[in-house]
Amino acid sequence: MEYLKIIFVLSCWMKLANSVYSTDTAQAPTAIPKEKLLVLTVATKETDGFLRFMQSANYFNYTVKVLGMGEEWRGGDVGRSIGGGQKVRLLKEAMEGLADQEDLVVLSVDSYDLIFAGGPEEILRKFQQANHKVLFAAEGLVWPDKQLADKYPSVRRGKRFLNSGGIIGYAPYINKIVAQWNLHDSDDDQLFYTKIYLDPLQREALNMTLDHKCQIFQNLNGAIDEVLLKFGTDRVRVRNTMYDTLPVVVHGNGNTKIYLNYLANYIPNVWNYEHGCSNCDENMVDLSQLKEYPNVLVGVYIEQPTPFLPEFFQRLLALDYPKDKLKLFVHNSEVYHEKHIQRFWEENRNVFNSFKVVGPEENLSHGEARNMGMDLCREDASCDYYFSIDSDVMLTNRQTLKVLIEQNRKIIGPLVTRHGKLWSNFWGALSLDGYYARSEDYIDIVQGKRVGVWNIPFMAHIYLIKGEALRNELKEKNYFVLEKLDPDMALCRNARELTSHREKDSPSPESFHMLRPPKGVFMYITNRHDFGRLISTANYNISHYNSDLWQIFENPVDWREKYIHKNYTRIFTENYLEEPCPDVFWFPVFTEKACDEIVEEMEHYGSWSGGKHEDKRIAGGYETVPTDDIHMKQIGFDKEWLHFIREYISPVTLKVFSGYYTKGYALMNFVVKYTPERQAYLRPHHDSSTFTINIALNNKDTDFQGGGCRFHRYNCSIESPRKGWSFMHPGRLTHLHEGLPTTNGTRYIAVSFIDP
Ligand SMILES: *[C@@H]1O[C@H](CO)[C@@H](O)[C@H](O)[C@H]1NC(C)=O
Ligand SMILES: *[C@@H]1O[C@H](CO)[C@@H](O)[C@H](O)[C@H]1NC(C)=O
Ligand SMILES: *[C@@H]1O[C@H](CO)[C@@H](O)[C@H](O)[C@H]1NC(C)=O
Ligand SMILES: *[C@@H]1O[C@H](CO)[C@@H](O)[C@H](O)[C@H]1NC(C)=O
Ligand SMILES: *[C@@H]1O[C@H](CO)[C@@H](O)[C@H](O)[C@H]1NC(C)=O
Ligand SMILES: *[C@@H]1O[C@H](CO)[C@@H](O)[C@H](O)[C@H]1NC(C)=O
Ligand SMILES: *[C@@H]1O[C@H](CO)[C@@H](O)[C@H](O)[C@H]1NC(C)=O
Repeated sequence: MEYLKIIFVLSCWMKLANSVYSTDTAQAPTAIPKEKLLVLTVATKETDGFLRFMQSANYFNYTVKVLGMGEEWRGGDVGRSIGGGQKVRLLKEAMEGLADQEDLVVLSVDSYDLIFAGGPEEILRKFQQANHKVLFAAEGLVWPDKQLADKYPSVRRGKRFLNSGGIIGYAPYINKIVAQWNLHDSDDDQLFYTKIYLDPLQREALNMTLDHKCQIFQNLNGAIDEVLLKFGTDRVRVRNTMYDTLPVVVHGNGNTKIYLNYLANYIPNVWNYEHGCSNCDENMVDLSQLKEYPNVLVGVYIEQPTPFLPEFFQRLLALDYPKDKLKLFVHNSEVYHEKHIQRFWEENRNVFNSFKVVGPEENLSHGEARNMGMDLCREDASCDYYFSIDSDVMLTNRQTLKVLIEQNRKIIGPLVTRHGKLWSNFWGALSLDGYYARSEDYIDIVQGKRVGVWNIPFMAHIYLIKGEALRNELKEKNYFVLEKLDPDMALCRNARELTSHREKDSPSPESFHMLRPPKGVFMYITNRHDFGRLISTANYNISHYNSDLWQIFENPVDWREKYIHKNYTRIFTENYLEEPCPDVFWFPVFTEKACDEIVEEMEHYGSWSGGKHEDKRIAGGYETVPTDDIHMKQIGFDKEWLHFIREYISPVTLKVFSGYYTKGYALMNFVVKYTPERQAYLRPHHDSSTFTINIALNNKDTDFQGGGCRFHRYNCSIESPRKGWSFMHPGRLTHLHEGLPTTNGTRYIAVSFIDP
């Protein structure tokens, strides 16, 4: 048994080897010259797909004749219903003039959803090997008339059914086929060719066959699992793994447009490992050459409570773009944020060309608000671009808007990701039912291992659309279909409406805030630069006065940027700290904002202890050296504060008290208020800590007079505390100290007794 099997396997192997051998040599002498190949395609409009087709054709130097450009499309809704007859009619007309060119090979292909992966020589060689006068593309699904399935000749291996998206043959034979056309433009082209092919007499007379094993034509419908990208040094192709072939014409027929878009991000030479992106710099807009910068409508959407909103607005303001060219439209659905917007508006309303705010009182749904913003650009002929940005996008790159404009696409977004996560603002693929699916390249794109401009099926949060596109391809309004339906109902409606369209990829619930490209328009995401990040809006408790202080866990990067002193890292890189008294270290840790917000938070809470000895908040209920204070725990900030100590204080401790590893634990964390009217000073004392931090929260001279700290053992005082700077000194033994009297105004400090 075993022996027989081996012989069988061997004989198969030999056959394969033989056929490979004959492929490469036998036909070579009689090769058809590549000038003898003419590509005919029908396109009534220069869609993005058509331009992509032409790019790939030009790359390989195909001779292409486009039929029907500018004509009205009457070929029906191809794909869903029958149609496409107009294509045959146009081909018929074109072939009449070519019928007598016996050695001309005509390749008739679709163009909106098709690309070339190889050149004319290869197609001609494979056509010759097929040894027929006419070769049709094949697919595994029978369409449009399933009842014709049985009439097809059976094939042992390979695709059995005809697909009319690709035909190659000698001109006289193609002519004999299309000359039979006498139907309407809206009749079905594939059915027409199928009937001719299935007629045994014609099949023989016209010497027709199908490209069963995808030597030339790869139809993707029903075959996505068969194909893989094959990276070469210069070119990228698809490999059909079922037949081990390298198809030359790749056709995203049926519901595979998105997959074709993915493949076309690489094929034929768009991106590869050696050179990266090869066409990213093509057709760029040079802003420096323009007389005036384009007008941009910036739509800002605040659809949920969002941490760091003031910082969001500051980054918007910091964009490197002439502000008189920017019109601002802000939709805010949160009462909580009205104070932030009010402040920004008061300071900047005259900075922008215009500034319109629609607040929560309008009770707009997210979809309605987005429609409104987009319409403002669509209906204003002077609006060159619509730039939509959600409040959870932290744009750290000031050049973002310019970079996007320069890239010159109808719709393009910058890649933004959640810090340290794979979460981003685009989808690389869709599952069959239209939900999120991870494309093979998603992680590489998010992590910047593949850099380029990527055609993708969904994106959200931030994108730029050409105003011209809004007034043409995207002129259909109410793009963000939602109205006042709840999300589930809107989903159903959206899905229903889409089924009347050609593709059946229904959107997921998230897609209401996501942009989905309409038919014919490509949508890109670029990761050629770092643009910024997405912040998390989850777990944002807005019941605090300055709720961002609590974001140290959820959005640590933004927390750090907002609250940690700009010179903090220099402590470690440049020894940026001082020692004003022995073993009293002094270093910057908080920004002004951190100090102000902590003080505001405490004053907002308002229940200062009054500096009494009786203190129910502490174990034992008695404080020997009481201060007028509020504990972090009282405002629910103790977990966050301890995290701050571990993240930002412990490293300093390790630096100045080397060899001591703090547990970063503290029971007593509080803000003290010194004022002549209440408690002005603190008598000499030790702290119940291994070491203590004492952070000044406001400024001497501007906010108060007096104050400071005196260490008795060293006869050393620090009389000019700096706002945002912390002292760190040993607590219980050597550093007997006192708080010097505040003589005017109010002085605030934040104190922790660490490792008690
Ligand atoms: C196409 O033609 C140009 C100019 O003749 C040539 O440089 C280029 O190599 C050709 N491309 C291919 C893929 O053969
Ligand atoms: C088709 O034509 C080729 C020559 O081009 C011939 O060798 C082959 O036998 C023909 N096939 C059929 C089925 O007629
Ligand atoms: C806002 O709209 C929702 C949904 O349409 C509705 O239920 C609610 O009553 C409206 N609220 C106000 C204040 O108009
Ligand atoms: C939000 O903060 C308030 C005040 O500290 C607290 O009472 C409430 O439990 C918090 N809510 C959540 C969901 O954590
Ligand atoms: C950081 O240090 C530099 C020079 O030492 C100083 O000019 C700058 O103001 C400091 N930054 C802040 C935020 O205090
Ligand atoms: C403490 O220092 C001050 C000056 O800074 C000096 O006048 C005073 O004599 C010193 N006291 C002691 C006890 O050394
Ligand atoms: C106390 O501060 C206020 C303003 O902060 C100022 O007007 C006043 O002159 C100060 N008093 C003294 C005695 O310095």
